[in-house]
Amino acid sequence: MIHVAFLLLIVFTDGSSSKKVCSYQDVVDYLNLTTDNGAYKLTRPVLDYNHLTVVKLDILLYAILAVIEKTQTFIPFVWATVMWNNERIKWDPTQFCGITHISVPTEMLWKPDLFIYEMIQKDDSPLNPYMLVSYEGEVSSEQDIRVVSTCRMDVHKFPFDTQRCNITIGSAVHTVNEMRLSPFSNSSRATQFTREVIKSQGEWEFLQLCVTSNNFTYGNRQWEQLIYTFTMKRRPLLHVINFLLPILFFLTLDIASFFIADHRGEKLGFKVTVLLAISVLLLILNDILPSMSNKTPLIATYCIVIFALMLLSLLETILVTYLMEKDSASSEKLRLRDELEDKQEKVKINNCNTVEKRRTCCSCICKASDGEKQHELLPVAEEVNNSIQSRESRVLLLILEELKELQKTLNLQLSCRHEVGKFGHWATRINRAFFIFYITTVSLFLCLIFIEWNS
Ligand SMILES: *[C@@H]1O[C@H](CO)[C@@H](O)[C@H](O)[C@H]1NC(C)=O
Ligand SMILES: *[C@@H]1O[C@H](CO)[C@@H](O)[C@H](O)[C@H]1NC(C)=O
Ligand SMILES: *[C@@H]1O[C@H](CO)[C@@H](O)[C@H](O)[C@H]1NC(C)=O
Ligand SMILES: *[C@@H]1O[C@H](CO)[C@@H](O)[C@H](O)[C@H]1NC(C)=O
Repeated sequence: MIHVAFLLLIVFTDGSSSKKVCSYQDVVDYLNLTTDNGAYKLTRPVLDYNHLTVVKLDILLYAILAVIEKTQTFIPFVWATVMWNNERIKWDPTQFCGITHISVPTEMLWKPDLFIYEMIQKDDSPLNPYMLVSYEGEVSSEQDIRVVSTCRMDVHKFPFDTQRCNITIGSAVHTVNEMRLSPFSNSSRATQFTREVIKSQGEWEFLQLCVTSNNFTYGNRQWEQLIYTFTMKRRPLLHVINFLLPILFFLTLDIASFFIADHRGEKLGFKVTVLLAISVLLLILNDILPSMSNKTPLIATYCIVIFALMLLSLLETILVTYLMEKDSASSEKLRLRDELEDKQEKVKINNCNTVEKRRTCCSCICKASDGEKQHELLPVAEEVNNSIQSRESRVLLLILEELKELQKTLNLQLSCRHEVGKFGHWATRINRAFFIFYITTVSLFLCLIFIEWNS
């Protein structure tokens, strides 16, 4: 049963195919479409020159290949569909087995001379070799274009910025009285389409595509333009990790260095190292940002202010170190004077001819060694006779000398550590005041700049 049905089907199809065979070539022959037929490509395809050619345009964004702030270049990869009417082309599909569309090589027909105003480099990607022609004379052409365009970017809020780049499309020779441009899909549809087809965005997040129409006037002639405005937002994570955070870390280190002891210039070395590290980071910034004069980028303010604060803290450290040096120099002088005095004292002890002594124990021993009024000071010494006296007192004197030497070195060390002079006090005061000033300024500045970045 099934076999019979197949047989019937084959017979039936054979019968119908013998009716008529159509090929695209029949349509092409009917239209007299040949490569050397100038009628189709020489002039704007209207039967009456007063007729307008309406060009419908659609542009979708496939990928954002690059956005280069330094050279102000925006390189998207777009997919453009262009449609227009060719009044010379018309055929009846019923005469050609219902053929409604044929494809012809692009160089055989007239094409609108559209160009992109912002394009600064010719597109060298291969062109789509065919155009689609419908029986009503509607011609459509599709093209993938890598647009290298110039775009004035505002880097004030870099890296938390949103950029708007225009791609303006217009005709080079046909004025508004000959050719009109109209967008195929409105802004909301174009945005939605682009969201569906976009493949790679890289660092950028596509936000919206806006289509506006504009008349460009030059002299007394007017051209119509379509302006496609791409809005995209930068993903700032990389720059935050690469740049903002390291600088913040160095600033924290600089603040922490206030707790390093002031002596011997260790703090100074540390601060200089941190400052050098920041200046290396500043070199990176030079590679990214364009040199624009109208508005300073916030990130430059951020770097310069932090750099200046750290420089200030370095200068403060130098001042404090200088004061400390001065302080220790004066205490050294004091020590030398003490030593001198002690030497004189020693001479006096040896002579033992004075009652006015500073150190009472010294004087008492001195007196004991002299043997005068010994019963008042050392009652035991009364038993001891003059024979032993001189030898023992000499030993005691030696011990006393040793003790005095010890006390002197101890005093010196103590004065080094705690007993700071006038300059030392100033240094501590300056340090404390500057620390408070530094912390307040840094936190205030960081708050302000992050508010500005967020706005
Ligand atoms: C094509 O050319 C032939 C003669 O060369 C002419 O008769 C015919 O009308 C032309 N067809 C069209 C559509 O112009
Ligand atoms: C983009 O076009 C709009 C008009 O639609 C214009 O206001 C804006 O200034 C243009 N932007 C640039 C960067 O040229
Ligand atoms: C855009 O076009 C779509 C259909 O093509 C329509 O539904 C929508 O209302 C239009 N939006 C605007 C703002 O004109
Ligand atoms: C441009 O000029 C044409 C013709 O004068 C006019 O119809 C059209 O509205 C104008 N377009 C704009 C955006 O002004």
